[in-house]
Amino acid sequence: MRVLSGVQPSGVLHLGNYFGAIQQHVELQGPPGKPEQAFYFIANYHTLTTIHDGARMRELTRDVAIDYLTLGLDPKRATFFRQSDVPEVCELAWLLSSCVGRGLLERAHSYKDKVARGLEPTMGLFNYPVLMAADILIYKSTVVPVGKDQQQHVEMAQDMGASFNAAFGKQVLVRPEWRFSTAPVVPGTDGAKMSKSYGNTIPIFPAPGMTEKQVFKAYFASIKTDSKGVEEPKDASDTLMVLYRLLDAQKAAEFEPTYVKGGVGYGDLKKRLSEAYIARFMPLAERRQQVAGDAAYVEGVLEEGAARARAVAKEVMAEAREAAGIVVSARTHA
Ligand code: ADP
Ligand code: TRP
Repeated sequence: MRVLSGVQPSGVLHLGNYFGAIQQHVELQGPPGKPEQAFYFIANYHTLTTIHDGARMRELTRDVAIDYLTLGLDPKRATFFRQSDVPEVCELAWLLSSCVGRGLLERAHSYKDKVARGLEPTMGLFNYPVLMAADILIYKSTVVPVGKDQQQHVEMAQDMGASFNAAFGKQVLVRPEWRFSTAPVVPGTDGAKMSKSYGNTIPIFPAPGMTEKQVFKAYFASIKTDSKGVEEPKDASDTLMVLYRLLDAQKAAEFEPTYVKGGVGYGDLKKRLSEAYIARFMPLAERRQQVAGDAAYVEGVLEEGAARARAVAKEVMAEAREAAGIVVSARTHA
């Protein structure tokens, strides 16, 4: 089994990313001493579809590495690297794009959604699922933990792998399966899917030293509710309760009967959310500062991960070239 997932360094990570993706990545790490079972990478080539600012790209790439190491990515249990440290992935993407029909890519929801939201319809954006398929297939990954929005991309990777194998008559690429976390869609402050493109996010890391009052004001006070009064029965599946369950499942379960019966107001629950958020994420925000202070450690983890990942990618790429009859000189590819 090989677990693999990628995360784009495209902005400040939020609770949707954490509960929808990162938490599951951390849980699916292998046992200590088996870092080859789980591969996680920073998908910087993918972020070129949205960020054309070199300094910003470098900064966000470093930040997401620090975020993952803070949130429990353990280099003894997982291989963690930058996508760009394995250039073979772009080569496989080309081989795949020569086997995939244009119609498959035209059906991608995410391309249509992103163009509708105003992203430039570049070839990179259109071909994005091919690069993502190469990311998955080049490591013979079997399990790909993702949020619901990425399910179609993993299914496309299944199709592309099968098309490649069929085209060249060899079983080179292995079929991956997607896997959802327990929170495939985390709601944002407006009740829609939390997403950095919708301006409805709550960050994973509060600024160190923020008080409960400040957190309440900054993130929780504005969560949209209806106008039910304190005494009225409330809906156990509204945005507030969904977030409470994620932040503190036990306290949420204790609180739910009263909420459903009536007798507590939305403001009370928002205060509880601020409390639960501080309890859970403030210690991590403090730890993040320590990780960020050790740039050599962060770079060392990424370098070691890249070496391990690239060794696998080189082998699979050699098999793929062999099947396709693409010849390279042994001297330049040593
Ligand atoms: P955003 O929507 O903010 O741009 P990304 O598309 O970069 O987030 O998502 C990164 C990862 O986090 C993906 O695996 C995605 O499925 C997951 N994710 C993002 N937002 C949510 C959400 N609101 N609920 C669950 N998972 C999410
Ligand atoms: N497309 C994913 C996202 O936007 C990131 C990603 C790139 C990825 N390559 C991947 C996820 C391979 C899983 C597997 O969140």
